Amino acid sequence: MSRTLVIAKPDATERGLIGEIIGRLERKGLRIIAAQFLTIDEELAAKHYEEHIGKPFYTELVRFIGRSPSMVMVIEGPEETWKVVRTMMGTTNPREAAPGTIRGDLAVELTENLVHGSDSEDSAKREIAIFFPNL
Ligand code: RTP
Ligand code: MG
Repeated sequence: MSRTLVIAKPDATERGLIGEIIGRLERKGLRIIAAQFLTIDEELAAKHYEEHIGKPFYTELVRFIGRSPSMVMVIEGPEETWKVVRTMMGTTNPREAAPGTIRGDLAVELTENLVHGSDSEDSAKREIAIFFPNL
């Protein structure tokens, strides 16, 4: 089996779309094997978004991700689950995301793009270990 980290971000919590996001993943045939509902503070954000530290949008990103609680989940499927989830999410900028994707159907602003999914098998391993060290 193959695992990835998915985060329903603060905008999903605020807009009441956590159920919609989880529902899409479940209907696809993926399974939640761990979850926690928490506010991602600055320290946790720095670990999770390590590759973006120093970029011009980093400060805004950290402020956004800690604005409300997030639903952080480990999602499991048969193979390359990170890739399946990324396809379901749509492109980073929701304005350009295809209809049928989470971002394409439900979002319109770059920072407020509802969902995070690991971008490779290695990222998935690294990110799962940050939020679920005992898994
Ligand atoms: P995520 O990590 O949140 O799943 O999103 P992603 O892989 O699709 O995009 P990534 O490049 O990792 O960027 C992380 C988040 O930073 C915001 N961003 N802003 N202003 C900008 O140029 C810019 N670029 C990225 C987005 O909210 C993105 O989700
Ligand atoms: Mg990313």
